[in-house]
Amino acid sequence: MLRKHLSEFSLDKSTLYFSEHHLSHAASAFYPSPFKKAAVLCLDGVGEWATSTTWLGDGKDLKAISQINYPHSLGLLYSAFTYYCGFKVNSGEYKLMGLAPLGKPKYVDLIMENLVDVKEDGSFYLNLTYFNYTRGLTMINEEFENLFGHPKRTPESLIDQFYKDVAASIQHVTETIILKMVKYLKEVTQVDNLCMAGGVALNCVVNGKIRETKIFKSVWVQPAAGDAGGALGAALALYYNGDVTRKIEEKDSMKGALLGPMASRSETENILSNENIKYKNCSYCELASLIEQGSVVGFYTGRMEFGPRALGSRSIIANAKIPDIQKIINLKIKKRESFRPFAPIVLAEDYHRYFVSNYDAPYMQFTDYIQSDQFPGVTHVDGSCRVQSVSKEKSPEFYQLLNEYKKLTGESVLINTSFNVRGEPIVCSVKDAISCFMRTDLDYIFLNGFLVDKKDCSELQVDEVYFGAD
Ligand SMILES: [Fe+2]
Repeated sequence: MLRKHLSEFSLDKSTLYFSEHHLSHAASAFYPSPFKKAAVLCLDGVGEWATSTTWLGDGKDLKAISQINYPHSLGLLYSAFTYYCGFKVNSGEYKLMGLAPLGKPKYVDLIMENLVDVKEDGSFYLNLTYFNYTRGLTMINEEFENLFGHPKRTPESLIDQFYKDVAASIQHVTETIILKMVKYLKEVTQVDNLCMAGGVALNCVVNGKIRETKIFKSVWVQPAAGDAGGALGAALALYYNGDVTRKIEEKDSMKGALLGPMASRSETENILSNENIKYKNCSYCELASLIEQGSVVGFYTGRMEFGPRALGSRSIIANAKIPDIQKIINLKIKKRESFRPFAPIVLAEDYHRYFVSNYDAPYMQFTDYIQSDQFPGVTHVDGSCRVQSVSKEKSPEFYQLLNEYKKLTGESVLINTSFNVRGEPIVCSVKDAISCFMRTDLDYIFLNGFLVDKKDCSELQVDEVYFGAD
């Protein structure tokens, strides 16, 4: 099959190399990290057979330490609860994580006594009596529902307190297991640094807790921790298998994860004029002022981010101080569940001004706690938020915008959410961005330095040009 598809690119005569799923995750976590030596923890649903692996990285060597195999999987355990709480497996896990702070971890004992057996070193065994994923197409069976005394939640139905408590409980159990693993990994390796990848490493609440414990001095998580990052890891694993020396950069070598496609300014301008869309040049200062006044803006600049997070190339930006901004964005644009707050961006140099810890967080992989109650749109009920620190090196355009915003308002915090509507991926091309802009109540779109005002777009453009095709 690979050869057949590669032949479309005349690559069918090339040599094929195989990198195991967890080796790819481990390589994606260790090689771009800023560490010469580090312990590596990979946690996901399942690849070939491995579901949890630990490694020791030293220079360009990556040696396996331990492995847990399918069906015993932390990722699948979390997915089973995602399914039980009425969200979609393999994409709704972050909703479950977002729901957890609204509940109390009432069912931790029930889960630990019946569903999962956890050892002191963090290794674990799932009790398969309650799960169905090894035999059928669903994650859990009737016995699981009987254990909790409630049926699986109907998707899109009102979320009652029971499911919030279940979310809090499984989040707590996941944290307990991972913290045990991390502690054991420290004992075994005795190194200062930890790298992480695999879908479970997208759980930024767990990552925040790992950092809080200070078991490892520094923690670095691959921005594309899910399986997309496996492509990068497989390439790195092969590269470092050869006769090369490893380049280690002071922060990390992901280059802000800006590895995706881009459109030049002239390409952007051509598209706008071909579509007969009225636009003008716009400075970051003007843009900052529009946001300050309450406009919600689609922000499209440079190369697209690689991985699941919008880090400032394909983002929707708004003023985090407006009291009901979360509601406005949810209803008018994102159309997503109201319990999920948006994420803040902050100038890296001002991080400590607003947040409890003082970390570098360029890839939004850790939750922290905000010190001020002035930003309701980005704060969860427990005061936590998934923050991105913005530096000149990693996100130059985002940095300029925040800098101008700070000059104007004295604050350097804004809302950043991915540029897409619910159920669609993040916009990639200029045309995707325009299409999303036309179908939502975004006030403006900023496209590589050009500004389009929704008020200048005709009904015809909105209805026919962008809905006409299908
Ligand atoms: Fe994976």
